[in-house]
Amino acid sequence: MGLRIGDIAPDFSIETTQGPINFHQWSAGSWVFFFSHPADFTPVCTTEMGRTAQLAPEFAKRNVKPLGLSTDSVAEHMRWINDVNLSQNTSLEFPIVADKDKKIAELYDMIHPGESSTAAVRSVFIIDPSHRIRLTMTYPMVVGRNFDEIIRVIDALQTTDAQEVACPADWRPGQPVIIRPSVSDADAKEKFPQGWKALTAYLRLTNL
Ligand code: BEZ
Repeated sequence: MGLRIGDIAPDFSIETTQGPINFHQWSAGSWVFFFSHPADFTPVCTTEMGRTAQLAPEFAKRNVKPLGLSTDSVAEHMRWINDVNLSQNTSLEFPIVADKDKKIAELYDMIHPGESSTAAVRSVFIIDPSHRIRLTMTYPMVVGRNFDEIIRVIDALQTTDAQEVACPADWRPGQPVIIRPSVSDADAKEKFPQGWKALTAYLRLTNL
């Protein structure tokens, strides 16, 4: 069975483009955007690596470390990073796991044999500072991920960790949030003194 939301992200030690890492030590105290790719020197993956590099300040602002993975060697990754930097006009600074024997891809259930028996699909794991998996997404090989959504969901998770709220469909930072149904109106008066608008008894919108 694959990994689920709420599971502790399995630990591992592996070579990366920035030297060997132990995953739990490397990520201690940070959120992680861990994402896999079918292969180096492929076009969609090149755009995704470039986009992640371009978004470095956005990830840093949110205390998120990106960690890429594909099932190629460090030497191949290093040559590919040159292509990424030149073609995507960026400077890729985050580590990419060299998972040549597919150990980590198998540990994280990134190989989906119906799509490919040899390459990883486009898996995403958002992992919190206590190493707990908070979101998983899986994209097919021929469709690049939506990085606006990745940033949006990190913002939503961090918002809902900070207060007893939930985020409605298509929520963006600054928009109203939902007071969780587990919070009574009496408690909500104390926790949300700014008040709320009740669309139904269980759908109470407030601004943070
Ligand atoms: C790509 O990254 O462009 C790609 C990888 C595997 C299959 C198809 C496309």
